[in-house]
This record gives sequence, structure tokens and C-alpha cells, in this order.
Amino acid sequence: MSRLATGDTYRPAAAKVLARTPQTADTFLYRVAFADEAVAGGFSHACGQFAELSVEGVGECPVSITSSPDDKGALEFCIRAVGEVTREICALDEGAALGVRGPLGRPFPVETFQGKGILFVSGGIGLAPLRPLINYVLRRRASFGAIDVVYGARSPLDLCFTEELVRWKDGAGVRVTVDRGDESWAGHVGLVPDYVDELGLRKEPRVAVVCGPPIMIRIELGRLAAAGWDPGEVWTTLERRMRCGVGKCARCLVGPKYVCTDGPVFSLRELEGLPWAEE
Ligand SMILES: Cc1cc2nc3c(=O)[nH]c(=O)nc-3n(C[C@H](O)[C@H](O)[C@H](O)COP(=O)(O)OP(=O)(O)OC[C@H]3O[C@@H](n4cnc5c(N)ncnc54)[C@H](O)[C@@H]3O)c2cc1C
Ligand code: FES
Repeated sequence: MSRLATGDTYRPAAAKVLARTPQTADTFLYRVAFADEAVAGGFSHACGQFAELSVEGVGECPVSITSSPDDKGALEFCIRAVGEVTREICALDEGAALGVRGPLGRPFPVETFQGKGILFVSGGIGLAPLRPLINYVLRRRASFGAIDVVYGARSPLDLCFTEELVRWKDGAGVRVTVDRGDESWAGHVGLVPDYVDELGLRKEPRVAVVCGPPIMIRIELGRLAAAGWDPGEVWTTLERRMRCGVGKCARCLVGPKYVCTDGPVFSLRELEGLPWAEE
């Protein structure tokens, strides 16, 4: 197996938190730089890849790289505090140390999207793995057809990347919805797949990229398939518990597929016949 950009396959590279920006009450955007300039200079990633982030003495967990490959200065990760490791990471402040192992996983085949329109459908923190791809594509706007982003969260306070959602309107149709509004919310209320229906965005098949809570992914992929979209052009990215991240421990298996190396990005065609919808 080849070495990772961060060096040894199993040993994380030392990195430092440059900035921590709250996204919601339990979700934070981290901007992180490698301590060693040689590691920083040798690191490059593609849209959809992830890294294993570690806190010494606590543990390691997989997190999508949410910065665009065009951003060479540092890496960004958007992390929700849900358990032991993510809570430790989300408590780290500017200047704190953490380990980074990566980049890992198979990215989106962005070269095959060239010249085509793309429908992005996302919910909650599921926007994090799609954000680099959206920024990458919008930076090369002329190379793609119609781009739409439909994004939702449980409530207005659970929406991530709110400033970018406004900025993306320059190059894409961006629609935002929440499951439950509040007195501050004047926008759409309803579930993401239902909003896609209402907007009529499944009428013209193109490339679809879907990521969000498992139930949202299941419903949206089902509706895209029912609407006749080519399963080879419908993409998602799966989350599974992982250990090694490099195809050795079998912790992440979905049927015969290793989510860490065969994925996390899969087309609907590749998922056919696999128990991917089971937790
Ligand atoms: C490829 C990939 C990319 C990911 N990207 C992000 C990201 O960008 N931001 C982010 O916040 N999280 C991301 N995750 C999920 C993140 O890895 C888990 O939240 C983390 O491993 C939880 O570890 P913990 O020790 O904090 O929690 P634990 O104490 O281990 O678990 C807490 C809760 O989270 C659930 N959980 C744990 N690991 C996973 C997992 N891998 N998938 C789904 N549920 C899990 C458990 O069932 C439990 O309910 C990603 C996971 C994968 C596989
Ligand atoms: S996490 Fe070890 S094989 Fe995938």
C-alpha cells in the first residue's frame, strides 16, 4: 500500500487549529494546518475524500474534508459533537493540536460530470462532504450545465454554511428548507425530498449528488430512481463506523465493499444489491 500524503499509513501527522467557527450549537468548522511544511506542501485531496482526525489519548474518527482542493492554505473540517472523539475535537480552540491521517477514500468522479448539469440534495451536516464539490464546480461554472442545490435542516438554527448558501446563488439555484420553522423563519418549511418534488427538479435527469441523514438519502435516491434517473449518474457518500480507514480491518464493510476504500462515494448503480440502507 502506498504511503498517505500525511506520511505513515497509520500514524497521524501533527496539525494545529487555525480557526474554529461555530455553525450550530453542536457543530463547528475547523480550519487546520499541518505543523510540518513538507507535509503541507505534499498534501492534496479531491472532492469527497475524508481524513482520520485524532486527539491524543482519546481516539480517532473519520471526517470529510470540507475545503475545496483549490484552497491550498489549510484544510477545513465541519464536525458535529455526537460522541467521545467528536466532543473532544469540538472542544479544541485556536492553537490546539490534533492529528490528521489522509487523504482517504475514493472521491467524486468530477471529471465525468463535465458538461452536465448537477442537482445537489443535502440535509444537515451532510452538506459538509458536498461543499468542496459545489465550490469546485462553481469555480469552473462554464464547464457545467444547470446547477441546483436543495438543502434543509431540522430547524433554522441547524442550518450550516448559511453565508455560502447565499454566495452560491451567483452560479446555482439554491433552495433552503427546514422541517420546523420559527418566528424568525420566512423561508420554506418541509422535508428536503418533498421540496425537490415541489420544485419539479427531478423532471430533467442530470447528475445528482445526495448526502444527508440516512433516511433522507434513502428517500431521495428512491425518488430519483423512480423518476428514471440513470443510477450511474446518481451519487451519494456513505457514513459507516471505521477503524483503519485503509481497507485492512473490515469494520466498514457494506456487503463486500469497504466504505473506506471502495467509497465513501458510491453511485446508486454500485449500491444496487448491497445492504447499504441498513445501519
Ligand atoms: C467517510 C465519513 C465521513 C464523515 N464526515 C463527517 C463530517 O464531515 N462531520 C462529522 O461531524 N462527522 C462525520 N462523520 C461521522 C463521524 O465519523 C462520527 O460522528 C464519529 O466517528 C463519531 O465518533 P465519536 O467517538 O465522537 O462518537 P461515538 O461515541 O463513537 O458515537 C456516537 C454516536 O454516533 C454514531 N456514529 C459513530 N460513528 C459513526 C459513523 N461513522 N457514521 C454514522 N454514525 C456514527 C454512533 O452510532 C453513536 O450513535 C463521517 C463518517 C465517515 C465514515
Ligand atoms: S475502516 Fe478498516 S477496512 Fe474500512
